[in-house]
Amino acid sequence: MKLYMSVAAHLRERIEKGIFSSGMRLPSVRTLSSDHGVSVTTVQLAYRQLESDGLIESKPQSGYYVKTIPVLPRPMAANDIKAFSTEPVESQNSVEFEYYMEHPGLLLGTGYPCMNAPSMAPLFTALHRQAQNYVQSPQTRRHPSGLLALREHISHLMLDAGCQSRTDDVIITNGCKEALFIALKASCEPGDLVAIESPCYFGILELLKIAGVTPVEIPADPVHGLSLEALVVALETLPIKAVYLSPNCNNPQGYTMSDVRKRQLLNIANKYDITLIEDDIYSELSYLLPRPRPIKSWDSENRVILCSSFSKTLTPDMKTGWIFANRQQKKLLNLKLMTSGVTAITPQMAIADFIEQGHYARHIRKMRLLYRKHLAIAQEKVLAYFPKGTHFISPQGGYHLWINLPNEIQISELCAQLELKKIKILPGTLFSPQKRFTSSLRLSYSSLHLYDADEMIESLAQSVRQCLTEVKSSTFGL
Ligand SMILES: Cc1ncc(COP(=O)(O)O)c(C=O)c1O
Repeated sequence: MKLYMSVAAHLRERIEKGIFSSGMRLPSVRTLSSDHGVSVTTVQLAYRQLESDGLIESKPQSGYYVKTIPVLPRPMAANDIKAFSTEPVESQNSVEFEYYMEHPGLLLGTGYPCMNAPSMAPLFTALHRQAQNYVQSPQTRRHPSGLLALREHISHLMLDAGCQSRTDDVIITNGCKEALFIALKASCEPGDLVAIESPCYFGILELLKIAGVTPVEIPADPVHGLSLEALVVALETLPIKAVYLSPNCNNPQGYTMSDVRKRQLLNIANKYDITLIEDDIYSELSYLLPRPRPIKSWDSENRVILCSSFSKTLTPDMKTGWIFANRQQKKLLNLKLMTSGVTAITPQMAIADFIEQGHYARHIRKMRLLYRKHLAIAQEKVLAYFPKGTHFISPQGGYHLWINLPNEIQISELCAQLELKKIKILPGTLFSPQKRFTSSLRLSYSSLHLYDADEMIESLAQSVRQCLTEVKSSTFGL
């Protein structure tokens, strides 16, 4: 372990134990450097690490402070797991469909990235250019696995993330959701059990349903991610075939699992002989650089199937994703072709062109900064307007903030109130087949600049406070 990491671990432990409590000023860089006998730079690195972990913040001319977060969750211990049943549950019908049909124009609830950023303009130019190229020679670049040039670029992106990737290992899909479906079909039979993180991306619940597979919810906390302890308990008692998880810049909680825990998970997968279906869709939007490594990058036994797409980094409208497994290539390709045939070529040509010209790397840099800026605004507003008892942990990347409201609040009642105001958030219950998280919500901040964020978050908070008042008055018979 590097020196700064052990200083950071020492501080983290004290924050978690409450020795350094919420809002408290931390020792100065110089004091800590002389206390620990390490250089000033080492302490600065440790503080920067904790800052990007969302635990502390720096105030100009004043120093570092523990963030005002009332509760820091810990990895789930074996005896906590009893309270969080890992019994398999039947997933619901078309959660995503029903919710989106009822709630057009999601604003604070949207899963879409900011698509009108100026750095996107060259993509639309490339699309136009490539559409013209296509008209001239429509057949030339078709390949069952997808456009070679794009697969080469993706393979380089994967190499940058630490994966041993060859172009031939990449299959282009219609977005990440199709990649996930293929991964599920390749690793499970109808009736099998698949462990999912809880809360989890709700689109996977639909996929499990149509694949005839039953989910087993495994708790995940916003600091450490999937509870490995709970997973082992479930693996000891249930014939689980695969685990679905999104370990980097997780949707909805925003955590990035530590490399140590990712490797521990891989060891568990090897020991119990299960497949890991790794959703890597938000990783490039990590606020901490270099982007976090996928579990796939340590996968010496080839049991991880990585799924991703450009839907969060560029746009979901080009429906361009990929699956990357370095095994079962024929099976995966066959499933892909049986599901939807060869993926549309023009968006692939446009994205390859966009990457080739160096626009992609620039765009990603800009989007990370934009989302970080939006996150700071969103957090500030939530801290200012939401009632006491509201908890959140800073996400490590992406553009979603998972907020735990005071327990008394029923999210369905809050949503009914927000409906009248035309404010959209996603209720926590959507992220669990058992409809847990009845007092949580996901607030998305990708496009905060398109509306009056201050007014909207204040109005959202007002409804939260009103719900709380109503619960309290009914409890006390007022
Ligand atoms: C974690 C996660 N995985 C996969 C998807 C689906 O991505 P795509 O639109 O590329 O199919 C989403 C979209 O919301 C997501 O949030």
